[in-house]
Amino acid sequence: MSHQLLKGKKGIIFGALDEKSIAWKTALRCHDEGAQLVLTNAPIALRMGEINTLAQQCNNAPVIPADVTSMDNLNNLFTKSMEHFNGGIDFVLHSVGMSMNIRKGNAYTDLNHEFTHKTLDISAMSLHRVLQVAYKLDAIKEWGSVVALTYIAAQRVFPDYSDMADAKALLENIARSFGYHYGTKKKVRINTISQSPTRTTAGSGVQSFDGFIDYAEKMSPLGNASAEDCANYCVSLFSDYTKMVTMQNLFHDGGFSLMGVSQAVIEQMGK
Ligand SMILES: NC(=O)c1ccc[n+]([C@@H]2O[C@H](COP(=O)([O-])OP(=O)(O)OC[C@H]3O[C@@H](n4cnc5c(N)ncnc54)[C@H](O)[C@@H]3O)[C@@H](O)[C@H]2O)c1
Repeated sequence: MSHQLLKGKKGIIFGALDEKSIAWKTALRCHDEGAQLVLTNAPIALRMGEINTLAQQCNNAPVIPADVTSMDNLNNLFTKSMEHFNGGIDFVLHSVGMSMNIRKGNAYTDLNHEFTHKTLDISAMSLHRVLQVAYKLDAIKEWGSVVALTYIAAQRVFPDYSDMADAKALLENIARSFGYHYGTKKKVRINTISQSPTRTTAGSGVQSFDGFIDYAEKMSPLGNASAEDCANYCVSLFSDYTKMVTMQNLFHDGGFSLMGVSQAVIEQMGK
């Protein structure tokens, strides 16, 4: 179902690793809605080669490698994207996250702080890097839209989310702080989407993920939001229909964030 909501718009999508990735589904939906795309991921992720399948499905979108911790890589990405589009960019999806502490199963009380540096750099500071590069190159057009993906562990405690919770809190704050500066300079809007737990490579890295996802499903009046639902929400935020929305953390979670307890969870506890 296409409404051509993004007809004529040009966007950069970070973080499509495989078919399960939220970024992958978002790229496909943006393409369906008439957008032209540049796809990017870390060089190591690109070596797996799956992104070329996505690129073909998106009208042979160029794939430009960029490690989000490298300013040189990001400068190159935005410069090449503007050359490719022959002008400015309308939207950017930041769909990037990684924690070695989570991968290694390190408890929050026993973090490897070298890993924590990396977590913060890749998962949060990278949004600042992306925005600063775009700002200095004047790469994003007026009323352009930037979306980054986050999780409610930025506000509430989810013990197994480890140092990613801290990274998400920083990410959301960068969206607000840069949202002010980019908004006043160029009317560029910046928001975060706080997504339900979703079965992807990054998501499944979290310990006890199955319990996590079942609990959220039982707590949410609408159930968990899928990656496809998230892709649709991203499309709406890239479209002109949401042009006055900025600096927001937008919960996309079937109602989870406003629940105390649900009947389904009470019944489960009584068993
Ligand atoms: N899956 C969930 O449950 C869930 C819930 C809420 C928010 N999110 C967020 O959604 C976003 C996308 O994650 P996903 O669930 O689709 O998983 P995913 O594993 O498919 O995507 C994560 C992406 O980050 C990329 N990445 C890692 N290090 C990088 C680097 N140095 N440079 C550039 N890219 C790098 C990976 O290559 C990968 O493409 C993340 O920010 C994640 O925290 C996920």
